[in-house]
Amino acid sequence: MNIPDLDWKNLTFSYTKTDYNVRCTYKDGKWGEIEVSDSEYLPLHIAASCLHYGQESFEGLKAFRGKDGKVRIFRMEENAKRFIRSAEGTMMAPMPVELFCEMVRKVVKLNERFIPPYGSGASLYIRPFEIGISPLIGVKPASEYMVIMLVTPVGPYFKEGFKPTKVCMSREYDRVAPKGTGSIKVGGNYGASLVAGEKAHSLGYSVMLYLDPKEKKYLDECGAANFFAIKDNKYITPYSESILPSITNMSLVELAKDLGMEVERRQIPVEELKTFEEASACGTAAVCSPISEVHDLDTGEKYVFSTDGKAGEVTTKLYNKLRAIQYGEEPDTHEWCEILEVD
Ligand code: PLP
Ligand code: COI
Repeated sequence: MNIPDLDWKNLTFSYTKTDYNVRCTYKDGKWGEIEVSDSEYLPLHIAASCLHYGQESFEGLKAFRGKDGKVRIFRMEENAKRFIRSAEGTMMAPMPVELFCEMVRKVVKLNERFIPPYGSGASLYIRPFEIGISPLIGVKPASEYMVIMLVTPVGPYFKEGFKPTKVCMSREYDRVAPKGTGSIKVGGNYGASLVAGEKAHSLGYSVMLYLDPKEKKYLDECGAANFFAIKDNKYITPYSESILPSITNMSLVELAKDLGMEVERRQIPVEELKTFEEASACGTAAVCSPISEVHDLDTGEKYVFSTDGKAGEVTTKLYNKLRAIQYGEEPDTHEWCEILEVD
């Protein structure tokens, strides 16, 4: 295998060209064969519904090169199920779970030389996405769709990695509407979050922590990651209809239970931030990204969780446990990883 000349230990969360992507088209009411492409471009009709009316959804998952040299893909069935929900929420054709998984396996295998080596701390990010491709001018669902999966080797999402960062919140911005598309992973949500995200960055924060869009009283989520906090040996994470159910969060909940912690998924009033011992963002890209402080831009209130530049004890334990399972250092007792047969 011709290993690419990349600085694996210093990869950022950004796009690097790999060898192939895979594509599958839905036409005449059915999915076609999986096609392999070495082009980074798509032939697309100028009136395609994805370009005008936002018929687009995406996923994000990772493959890891383990301590034993094996390649592990983390919980891809969960991404496949969420991909179906996103398709249904935007009137696109849902891709069956098995076809989704077959495409993931194929695109990882085809780009095996880009899976970062064990010990680099990096992983192969897999980005499936679906688009409406039929030409439309009236606002209605397309009849033809395409699912494309690309991969790219990545390092940490926040440049600080596992070092705590400051986040901010503001009642001036909503990521999504109360009964809108927050619980599915559609491109429009991210377009709508760019102004708030750039505002947070420009003020020196890593991300905007959104409040619930209806009452602006409860914590929702942190940009493209869920939020969790630790208090009195409890793992506490928001219940909200407008957040994306995170597969990482779902996994950390199980790991917290394994550690004998209680788990609470409920509305979290902003003022409760005062009482938390630890706070963190979590997601596929973010893994666990500890939060040192939350600044309320509207009231000037500051909530501080860490002053020594270190993540809290429980967050560190959960992070290490998750990484150990993903890199095959500890038994995968929940059977979250699929070991990919690479020939
Ligand atoms: N919330 C949002 C808005 C996201 O975009 C993501 C990333 O996918 C997450 C949460 C984390 O979800 P997951 O852990 O499934 O990647
Ligand atoms: C992920 O965590 O996989 C994401 O999709 C986050 C972001 C890059 C959109």
